[in-house]
Amino acid sequence: MNRNLALEFVRVTEMAAIASARWMGRGDEKAADQAAVDAMRAMLDTVECEGTVVIGEGERDEAPMLYIGEKVGAGNGQKLDIALDPLEGTTVCAKGATNSISVMAIAEEGGFLNAPDTYMQKIAVGPAGRGIIDIRESAEENLKRLAEAKKCKVADLTVCVLDRPRHEELISEIRNAGARIKLIGDGDVAASVACCEDSSGIDMMMGTGGAPEGVISAAALRCMGGDFQGTLKFRHDEEKERAKKMGITDLEKIYSIEELASGNVMFVATGVTTGTFLEGVRFRPWGATTHSIVMRSQSGTIRRIVAEHHFDTKPRY
Ligand code: FBP
Repeated sequence: MNRNLALEFVRVTEMAAIASARWMGRGDEKAADQAAVDAMRAMLDTVECEGTVVIGEGERDEAPMLYIGEKVGAGNGQKLDIALDPLEGTTVCAKGATNSISVMAIAEEGGFLNAPDTYMQKIAVGPAGRGIIDIRESAEENLKRLAEAKKCKVADLTVCVLDRPRHEELISEIRNAGARIKLIGDGDVAASVACCEDSSGIDMMMGTGGAPEGVISAAALRCMGGDFQGTLKFRHDEEKERAKKMGITDLEKIYSIEELASGNVMFVATGVTTGTFLEGVRFRPWGATTHSIVMRSQSGTIRRIVAEHHFDTKPRY
């Protein structure tokens, strides 16, 4: 994969982040999401590639833009598969809370699991936990293994969990094991990435969230040397049928990180609201500043890009 594309894709998440950040705290999730989708769609066509959206805003009949299967890019470069979420954490953005991001993961053709828009049970850890986690085991067992690998006590570990009633049992299991918990309202992509960042204070992410977000998180953790496992969780038969149509035969399969995101992958994200690994968009009299991260699995290089966008020489957002 052409490494120069990394910078091109940062431009895409930067523009989507700036557009949606205008809606921060204004209580309108739909408008925030739409602004991000419009900006991302427009910018994607400036990138020299033949891109296909494999994880996007939904099925063609329900999403007018950035739907699964949509062709994006300038159309004259490498064939790439794109998993995207123009605004990950729409509620977070609408409330002005922490950790909403604009995010994309890119792979060579066929590199991503074409995950249906259902739930996925997930476990994520940073590099210290690579190869030791097992989603089939209890939370207690996974925590013991991670504590051993990190040469600390289970009580020293912090697990990030989405604050949802479905996680009641998981939360008490983690508490009984003695670990600390950080409950989050939304945004398990940021929570997964946080496992790889020492400064975040997060050691593990567990629980059930969106399957598309699981694939995007796996791509990030491939670049950062962390680990991730996931298994699809269906809410009803219709979702199972949809998964089968998308080529998934074993509905109970446990996916390894490489099965979710294989080959050379890139991950790009820009902060919309300030969070654990990215600052949010700040508007200035002359424009805006953005904070992004871009990484590639091939080199393992992680770049943080702070950009100043001058609106008098650019489209106005
Ligand atoms: P959106 O950006 O689509 O709002 O997703 C936010 C999110 O919190 C994800 O990070 C997470 O995977 C999923 O929603 C959890 O789903 P639910 O809100 O249904 O529990």
